[in-house]
Amino acid sequence: MSTLSVKHLLGIKNLQKEDIELIFNTADNFKEVINRPIRKVPSLRDITVANLFFENSTRTKLSFELAEKRLSADTLNFSAASSSVNKGETLVDTVNNILAMKVDMLVMRHPDAGAATFLSNHIDVPIVNAGDGAHEHPTQALLDAYSIREKLGSVEGKKVVIVGDILHSRVALSNIFCLQKLGAEVKVCGLSTLMPKYIESLGVGYEPSLMKALEWCDVANMLRIQLERQDTKFFPSKKEYSMMYGLNKERLDSISKQITVMHPGPINRGVEITSDVADSKQSIILQQVENGVAIRMAVLYLLANSIKK
Ligand code: CP
Repeated sequence: MSTLSVKHLLGIKNLQKEDIELIFNTADNFKEVINRPIRKVPSLRDITVANLFFENSTRTKLSFELAEKRLSADTLNFSAASSSVNKGETLVDTVNNILAMKVDMLVMRHPDAGAATFLSNHIDVPIVNAGDGAHEHPTQALLDAYSIREKLGSVEGKKVVIVGDILHSRVALSNIFCLQKLGAEVKVCGLSTLMPKYIESLGVGYEPSLMKALEWCDVANMLRIQLERQDTKFFPSKKEYSMMYGLNKERLDSISKQITVMHPGPINRGVEITSDVADSKQSIILQQVENGVAIRMAVLYLLANSIKK
């Protein structure tokens, strides 16, 4: 397979295993490029990419922008806070105006689940979902699985536990789809109030005990509590949450093996993970961020194949 089976990257759910493998193999080449003294290739010269961020981001926004620059694309950055969206313009009108300026591809983060899929029905250029509400965050899941592959040699057969606020997490859903397609076994762990009712229908086991989950897994992906998506209280306080589900050095050292610790960021140090764990040798948090650039270069490069000039 040398081309993706999809025109847009809207989620992991509608990707095939072969698509993910193609993205990983392409990212291997780009990872080599970004570690050279000259970290740039002309692959997307004369392609213009607009990054539309309707919601806050540090890692994803900068990582896409850097990926585009490393591929020699021209980039436009749109931030909803300073745009005419605040004057009542619709999403489709906003995007059609941007496309009228001869933009070839879109990257979009939006607070509403399904926003990228909705937009893909109204426009003719490839779109990459950079996170839509509590739905999917496909490039995060790709970089997470790629980082596991890099650290442990493969994803197939590995045991991965995703700990924390699964209910509000687009990272969790995309990771579950991606890891399962690649043959990993996935469990979720955390407060039952933060678990979606449909979770077991995804073929994912639920483990309420953090210590049992840590003993079981090869990799623990610690998620942030998404307070901005919670309109009611799901647990008494952050202090109590961290007492039950926070990963600290004492817990990590008390299990019988060396597991790999991941976090998609942003971290709430002292809540879901302590600094001594986040900054430990078992943590691959910054490798995840580094791999994000290569993964996003691969996604943009492969989707650009469908652009007719
Ligand atoms: N992991 C992630 O999506 O981080 P940002 O919100 O900073 O982009």
